[in-house]
Amino acid sequence: MTGTPLLFVVAAVAWVGHACIWTVLLSNLFGRPLPKPFLKAWRLVTAVVILAFLQMCWWLLTHPFTFIDGLLASRPAWPDPTDALGFGYVGVCLVVGGLVFPAITVLRFVRKPPACLVSETTRTRDLWAECGEPLIGDGKMPYVARLPGNQIFRVDFTESTLALPDLPPEWEGLTILVVSDVHFHGTPSRLFFDRVVDDILTGPTPDLVCLIGDYVDTDTHREWIGPVLGRLSATGVKLAILGNHDKHHHPQQVRAALTDAGYAVVGNGWQTVTVRGVPCVVVGHEGPWFVPPPDLTGTPAELFRLCLSHTPDNFYWGVANQIDLMLCGHVHGGGIRVPVIGSIFVPSVYSRRFDQGVFERAGTVMVVNRGLSGKEPLRFRCNPQVMRLTLTRGVRR
Ligand SMILES: [Fe+2]
Repeated sequence: MTGTPLLFVVAAVAWVGHACIWTVLLSNLFGRPLPKPFLKAWRLVTAVVILAFLQMCWWLLTHPFTFIDGLLASRPAWPDPTDALGFGYVGVCLVVGGLVFPAITVLRFVRKPPACLVSETTRTRDLWAECGEPLIGDGKMPYVARLPGNQIFRVDFTESTLALPDLPPEWEGLTILVVSDVHFHGTPSRLFFDRVVDDILTGPTPDLVCLIGDYVDTDTHREWIGPVLGRLSATGVKLAILGNHDKHHHPQQVRAALTDAGYAVVGNGWQTVTVRGVPCVVVGHEGPWFVPPPDLTGTPAELFRLCLSHTPDNFYWGVANQIDLMLCGHVHGGGIRVPVIGSIFVPSVYSRRFDQGVFERAGTVMVVNRGLSGKEPLRFRCNPQVMRLTLTRGVRR
């Protein structure tokens, strides 16, 4: 390969690495309880820095004492000491873009689901094809909702069977409906959510309904909680926690609306709930946005532990606290998923690690739901999702 194409490839690999580093940093910061103005500003900085890197590459490549120039000329050259930081960073970018990112992408692509996931089927319903324009309400960014390829109205109804060895015998076949991240703000319209609930109600009534947070992005749309989510029913109990977006819209009133809709709002804590005549411990974890985290002191050790956690970032907390089953939302599957690569930006301190699906570690099973909507009405190759889980003591995969 001659000089110019080689330089182009090197610059492209370095740019990929640079974009990875700044995107992972952005994801990490968005997983933390930082002020919204700071996060918005940092998102803008990240976009500028990623795009500006190509210009920086050009500057480095045209610098009279560049390391790459020395390599191409087959003569020893070393950058001026004042450039060492820049060249060192480019070297890190080359390693990340050329080795780390491809390796992680391959590992994620070939990763097998955990043994506890016995089966999983998904039925997709294209509500845009059925209802069209009335699905776009009077909320923010309706033009984004209309973008070609935007899949915010293609809803996946996922049915998963999970084998949990410590499941009480009476709970064999127990079903849990998981709904997360409805983000009421007007776009999508009420019709969208009503149609989704209509669809859910055509199926059998679950033992439990679990709502995993992020109900509202405006104060006025709190009034949708009762008529939409209140229609869901359970033979056992309906449970709910809050998410980070609810914190900005009078959380106590959100809790009150959920309570009025028939939900036990767990908050950051635990309570004993009896289902099918068997007591279990239900834990809520709304951290890191609501503090302090739940204190499980005094929890009966022999009981099954179900945890509703808005973010999957609490997975290792769940493992440390012997949670049997953890239900999460928040990350929306990343919202935009690229073929082979998958998600790019995920608001999590672990970046893409827990972007969707089922995870298992040391007896704790975590299910991460992609959620039903989002503050920005944009999804690409990442359909909204409603989950129905069936629990069994049966054979693992
Ligand atoms: Fe959310």
